[in-house]
Amino acid sequence: MRAAAQTPSYNLASFLSRPLVQIGPHLLPNRLFVAPMAGVTDRPFRQLCRRLGAGYAVSEMVTSRKELWGSLKTSRRADHAGEPGPIAVQIAGTDAAMMAEAAAYNIDRGAQIIDINMGCPAKKVCNKWAGSALMRNEALALEIVEAVVAVCAPRGVPVTLKMRTGWSLEERNALRLARSFEAAGIAMLTIHGRTREQGYKGLAEYDTIAAVKAALAIPVVANGDIDSPEKARDVLAYTRADALMIGRAAQGRPWIFREVAHFLATGEHLAAPTVPEARDLLTEHLHDHYGLYGERSGVRSARKHIGWAVRGLPGGEDFRQRMNILERCDEQVQALRDWFDDLGQTHDRLPPTEAANDEDAQADEACAA
Ligand SMILES: Cc1cc2nc3c(=O)[nH]c(=O)nc-3n(C[C@H](O)[C@H](O)[C@H](O)COP(=O)(O)O)c2cc1C
Repeated sequence: MRAAAQTPSYNLASFLSRPLVQIGPHLLPNRLFVAPMAGVTDRPFRQLCRRLGAGYAVSEMVTSRKELWGSLKTSRRADHAGEPGPIAVQIAGTDAAMMAEAAAYNIDRGAQIIDINMGCPAKKVCNKWAGSALMRNEALALEIVEAVVAVCAPRGVPVTLKMRTGWSLEERNALRLARSFEAAGIAMLTIHGRTREQGYKGLAEYDTIAAVKAALAIPVVANGDIDSPEKARDVLAYTRADALMIGRAAQGRPWIFREVAHFLATGEHLAAPTVPEARDLLTEHLHDHYGLYGERSGVRSARKHIGWAVRGLPGGEDFRQRMNILERCDEQVQALRDWFDDLGQTHDRLPPTEAANDEDAQADEACAA
């Protein structure tokens, strides 16, 4: 963002007092969304973020390849048991008919909103012309949108879409695509302020998002590098977006949503969670996580969440290494609780941490999965 800090005249009260975001029949409770992150935003994590102030959570991407729908991975991704609505499922693929079929399949399994993924930069996805690679083939991208909308509209299910600013710096076509997607019936558009070529490197830019917001009547959501209440304020000021979507900064810090909401509403910082509160929230998250994945798989996949939670905290890296060799859920939970109790000896509240921002490999791997 070049000039966000130079737009102090922006009135946050006007953002907060505007009607809430409406996606088809669904009125969302607030304007802070958790970003879909394959391998991260499973149901337990989405629920945790919703409890801590995220108003909306899109599920991890589900492939349009039918042969994978019966797989454990896909069925776990499609698990929405007990999740607060609206249930939004993201689909990814390259073939319009298959994408339409995937939309119908997910609606039959409870999806109330279908989100089309045109944002994932992973090579595996892009080679198959899915994810952000679709932005390079505008005719195919539009064909997919039309086919998905044609299946969803008669069922009363709105279709949203998430994309990047374009394929590369020279091919930043988000605005043109956004106009045609809106005309084709897309109900909300999220833009991550990077090109496909950038992956997760460099900085997100917000000019393209601002231009799309100014041109469209449907809600536009700004995404990319929002990692603090101040950054959230500045991105809103600059883009005038209807909502903000936060991804990596919520990893290990799901309370960022309530912190941002509080800051936007009052201009003041909410205190960080107390150490016991963080311990208990993470413990609950772990139990929920094991419930979805089972002991063997759950103890392994929980490691990344624990790693993020302790990242940047005093002694966190040592603990992460010790925790990574534990093989049982009960050991993992106990180690985490003991570690936080030790931290509680010297800190009442979580001390500030450095936010991580270069996660190409992690995202590549997760999106390709
Ligand atoms: C591990 C990981 C997995 C992701 N998976 C998806 C995905 O399945 N679908 C999608 O649209 N974007 C995906 N993304 C992109 C995020 O939704 C988001 O656009 C991006 O991380 C930028 O936002 P941030 O700076 O707040 O993290 C993924 C990102 C990461 C880091």
